Amino acid sequence: MNKFFLFLFSVLVLTSLTANAAIYKGQREFVKRCIKCHKAGQSFVATKKKREWKKLMAKKGKKLAEIHINSNDRKAKKSKRYFESRKYIRKTKHLKQFLMEYAQDSGNVPACN
Ligand code: HEC
Repeated sequence: MNKFFLFLFSVLVLTSLTANAAIYKGQREFVKRCIKCHKAGQSFVATKKKREWKKLMAKKGKKLAEIHINSNDRKAKKSKRYFESRKYIRKTKHLKQFLMEYAQDSGNVPACN
């Protein structure tokens, strides 16, 4: 029985560590890539609800990429290369976790960068 609980405990700890790591990676990517244009920074994340971020980040961030790639805004054009890159695709999973973690209706406020 003891071994079972030890096992269960380890699984729980590992799961929460992995989730936190993803959020952290997403935050790092957000700070590195998004803040230069969306300078409100972290409060920008709180302008959307979880459901909205989820939609934008679905299918490896397809919607979010399209908004930037198809935009006529001169500033948005500068992000085209990033949104078309494999780097972005690889990070979308983490970004999504981070964005949803701090969405308007999440009740969470990030501590600091
Ligand atoms: C080079 C500048 C630039 C970068 C980098 C950039 N954006 Fe944007 N983003 C824009 C501009 C400009 C618009 C407005 C596009 C339009 O309306 O045509 C926009 C629009 C958006 C929108 C939709 C508008 C809204 O408020 O509903 C979201 C969401 C968004 N960006 C999130 C992000 C995220 C997340 C990142 C980082 C992964 C990011 N952006 C990186 C410039 C940028």
